[in-house]
Amino acid sequence: MGELLLVLDEGTTSMRAMIFEPGGACVATHAADLTQHYPGPGLVEHDAAEIWERTLACAQQAIERAGGADRIAAIGITNQRETIVFWDKTTGEPLAPAIVWQDRRSAAMCRAWREAGEEPGVQARTGLLLDPYFSGTKIAWAMANWPQLKQAGDRLAIGTIESWLVWKLTGGLHITDATNASRTLLMGLGSGGWSDGLLDMFSAPRDALPEIVDCAGRLGTTKVFGGEIPICGLAGDQQSATIGQACLTKGETKATFGTGAFILTNAGTTPPSSKHRLLATVLWQLNGRRTYAIEGSVFVAGSLVQWLRDSIGLIGTAPETETLARSVPDTGGVYLVPALSGLGAPWWEPEARGALSGLSFSSTRAHIVRAALESMAYQSHDLKTAFAADGADWARLRVDGGMVANDWMAQDLADILALPVDRPAFAETTALGAAMLAGVGCGLFSGLEEAASMRSEGTTFEPKLDDDARRQRLSGWKAAVRHVAG
Ligand code: G3P
Repeated sequence: MGELLLVLDEGTTSMRAMIFEPGGACVATHAADLTQHYPGPGLVEHDAAEIWERTLACAQQAIERAGGADRIAAIGITNQRETIVFWDKTTGEPLAPAIVWQDRRSAAMCRAWREAGEEPGVQARTGLLLDPYFSGTKIAWAMANWPQLKQAGDRLAIGTIESWLVWKLTGGLHITDATNASRTLLMGLGSGGWSDGLLDMFSAPRDALPEIVDCAGRLGTTKVFGGEIPICGLAGDQQSATIGQACLTKGETKATFGTGAFILTNAGTTPPSSKHRLLATVLWQLNGRRTYAIEGSVFVAGSLVQWLRDSIGLIGTAPETETLARSVPDTGGVYLVPALSGLGAPWWEPEARGALSGLSFSSTRAHIVRAALESMAYQSHDLKTAFAADGADWARLRVDGGMVANDWMAQDLADILALPVDRPAFAETTALGAAMLAGVGCGLFSGLEEAASMRSEGTTFEPKLDDDARRQRLSGWKAAVRHVAG
């Protein structure tokens, strides 16, 4: 049997296959971009067939580099959550585009459910809110608008990205792990099973849905790489990053600044319930027992830098943002509220749109870019306030994701949050978490505590900004975001 762990890390804009040694060293990696389809304002789609083909190609390349499939002990999959795939069980081919988590097409349906007073009941059962972000609302929209789904009858399969990939890898096993299932609006948070009332509300046919399973164990087997390799780890990417950051004890918190920014605090083994517009979600499920998290989801983070580069042309490359931010002492009163696809937690305003305020003739490109980076710390601060009000304040914050390779931004986060910010030396914590789960699932580790030895220490950024300056910056942000959130 092999000794390496293959991780398929399925992000929103790219995917990568990474191969880890049990000690935590990454010995091979291969990445590919994912095509983004924007068929209209607020609409974001992926092609599930492309996701499968590119994932397979990435995995094959990485396996070859690592010396062949015989060396792989187990596979772990971690994925962009909420994005929903519809396929035909007999052909294994998609029946429609995958509706991406950022997609807002179900906004009107969500408004109608909220106006009908459905939200408190749904939140109590699922830990989630009635926002287009969550898969159930996307399923309801698709069942009402794409006739081929109803026509498919018993042949219809519905699943999130890990579910789709497991189906393709195994040739027809239909499972989802409890973390991904907890993002659908269809699973009871306390029961860990699909809820009939919720399936009805979101028009989700039970027979089309996968079986909900643990995050680690012998979950399936694939032969597509030659030989038989067990699939031993599954988790949504933010849960996986929380595990990869070794937030294994109640109260420990991580923030990932990827396409969006997602902050999760380990909430222990009792389902939490937020009174301040945060989410309650499954952090992991092992041996049928669930550990939970409170989550704050910010929809726009790295995608803002991408937008500044690709749509606005304000920067040539992402790393330029650090040089530009450092080139000015402040933003000169400029604020950028990055509500490019609505506002997530704690506002939940799907129809809000972005704003740039405080401009004057002295404003330069550097001020605007600095304002873009500062908005990350401000949004994190809004979440910190909500977490504290829910009784889950943070003592320090572990960060990861592409954006915090930027030292200036990591320091700004420490300054605005007035907290130490820890950044591990190995930044791919999402993939690491899936490797840890796969290692637990195949018996390389006795549990997550032992698997946490895979994680590396790194740099700590201590807060340096004085209180007055911090308060002043935050009050400017408050005014700017209120304007957008209405
Ligand atoms: O909930 C959406 C999240 O899972 C997306 O993650 O890494 O693509 O920003 P990412």
